[in-house]
Amino acid sequence: MTVTDEPTVPTLDVAAIKSDFAILERQVHGKRLVYLDSAASAQKPRAVLEAMDTFAETSYANVHRGVYTIAEEATTAYEAARARVAGFIGAASPAEVVFTKNATEGINLVANAWGRANLGPGDVVVSTEMEHHANIVPWQMLAAERGFELRFVPLTDDGRLDLAELPRLLDGAKLLTVTAASNVLGTLNPVRELAEAAHAAGALLLVDACQHVPHLATDVTAMGADFLVFSAHKMLGPTGIGVLWGRTELLDAMPPFLGGGEMIRDVRLDGFTCNDLPWKFEAGTMPIIEAVGLHAAIDYLDALGLDAVRAHEVQLSDYARSTLQGRLGDSLRIYGPTDSALRGGVASFAYRDVHPHDISQVLDEYAVCVRAGHHCAKPLMRRLGIGATARASWYVYNDEADIDALVDGLAAAGEFFGA
Ligand code: ALA
Repeated sequence: MTVTDEPTVPTLDVAAIKSDFAILERQVHGKRLVYLDSAASAQKPRAVLEAMDTFAETSYANVHRGVYTIAEEATTAYEAARARVAGFIGAASPAEVVFTKNATEGINLVANAWGRANLGPGDVVVSTEMEHHANIVPWQMLAAERGFELRFVPLTDDGRLDLAELPRLLDGAKLLTVTAASNVLGTLNPVRELAEAAHAAGALLLVDACQHVPHLATDVTAMGADFLVFSAHKMLGPTGIGVLWGRTELLDAMPPFLGGGEMIRDVRLDGFTCNDLPWKFEAGTMPIIEAVGLHAAIDYLDALGLDAVRAHEVQLSDYARSTLQGRLGDSLRIYGPTDSALRGGVASFAYRDVHPHDISQVLDEYAVCVRAGHHCAKPLMRRLGIGATARASWYVYNDEADIDALVDGLAAAGEFFGA
């Protein structure tokens, strides 16, 4: 046996992982399905689907309401999911984990509850030019109503935040709201540094971690975040459930967002009092089966190991860049930073002058699924001087053969359009 001090690079057994995903067994147009759209929505392994089915078939009932056996089982499962999320992201307590419909709702919740109570004329919220619409529009809506100023951190030409501008932009700000990882450029933003800059300016930091939590180990405390949101459907879980994490004292001080159901302690005709955290923010019947699915998705990802997930994505990103550029040369341009260590597993690209929708349609003939369009980031598209991109995004179930299928399809698209 050779003893070595070299750190071992964690790896994924992608063939075994692929076999956990029934959908990857199907064929489209007679060809093996190649799913490269996980940044939009990831696929679900059998373990997640079975956990939801088993729960629905054995223990499903509404939660926090009935006192009969299966209602208590359902409540226990729902709250166990919350505790699992809290542990997964390093939250101080499950009370800091609010279930929402998705990350978009989480940001809207902060805007409407914290923002409405804290923002007015003379105040400033800082966002960035690379945000998803979900981290721009809620602030625009509130700014129009409350009269505060909205500023945006500009981008460098290689798709990173231009941090030289940050101190000026943060002057007088109450909130910096930023994505941890761009859904278009792949850029991984320096969240810890952004937290320090925000806090030094007296502002809070909200992190859109939709493209981070599924791919990199996430610790809200180490990040220095004050609020953080993500969606289950991008991390092998179901649609219909997302998470807002917030520091206890912030959530405690915030008024509720939606009224009704579990968010009350008492209601009289002349008023109401709120429930404790986190239920104060969970009005109406929540996505109960989906919480069980999210729990199973976290179990699955944890068993793979987030370090291995990240290492796999970096390795595939390197392979994708060298293969795409090796085969297609300068006719293909990938947006964003060139160093795979600085980006997530997404590549938005332009190919010759073929329209992204045409690229996506031709790729579908090869059973390759990529997203085409503005990716809910129109201000970013304007900054790039384009209307749309095609975007391939890879995850734990993708391998080099999937990237090869993408490149083959792109070569065919180039020939087809004679571009
Ligand atoms: N936000 C998702 C995406 O980037 C839907 O595709």
